[in-house]
Amino acid sequence: LVAAATDNIDRLVRWADDFPVDGVRFADLTPVFADSDGLSSVVAALATAGSGADLVAGIDARGFLLGAGVALTLGTGVLAVRKAGKLPPPVVSQSYQLEYGSAELQIPEAVDVSGRKVLVIDDVLATGGTVAATVELLRTRGADIVGAAVALEISALGGRGKCVGYPLVCLRQV
Ligand code: PRP
Ligand code: MG
Repeated sequence: LVAAATDNIDRLVRWADDFPVDGVRFADLTPVFADSDGLSSVVAALATAGSGADLVAGIDARGFLLGAGVALTLGTGVLAVRKAGKLPPPVVSQSYQLEYGSAELQIPEAVDVSGRKVLVIDDVLATGGTVAATVELLRTRGADIVGAAVALEISALGGRGKCVGYPLVCLRQV
């Protein structure tokens, strides 16, 4: 299952040098998700990380695509973890560091994640700040993180070190 997804990622990922800034090599997974085999194989492989999960958290924005697919595969709902300013109050927030400055992720206070077994889904793990902030936000509200899964891990940035206390599945490491 994972091998098929890895092959599709390798076949279809679009690498862009010096984007969005000089010195960064950007992995664009858009063509992977636009391909029927690409999308279905990646979703199926990510879902293998969700044994026992009763909720999938998909991270704004590219994690939404995969999170919804994984949730349908597992038979759970999907919680959209949103960037600040998109949800009306009351919300619960968690800020995190970006390369320059900081950002914030939010969920509605009304979605009770206490005691839920949550699988966190995103497209890419780079510095790990985004996944770590999502996990922190959900744990603060009493969720039990059963795992996190991403399509692509940029190993050199060390994000794996920020994913502590739950299994991390990455379909392709570069
Ligand atoms: C990208 C990517 C991950 C995150 C990984 O999202 O989709 O969510 O960066 O980086 P990190 O591990 O260093 O936190 P981005 O914030 O660019 O937004 P998008 O998903 O809305 O395009
Ligand atoms: Mg993202």
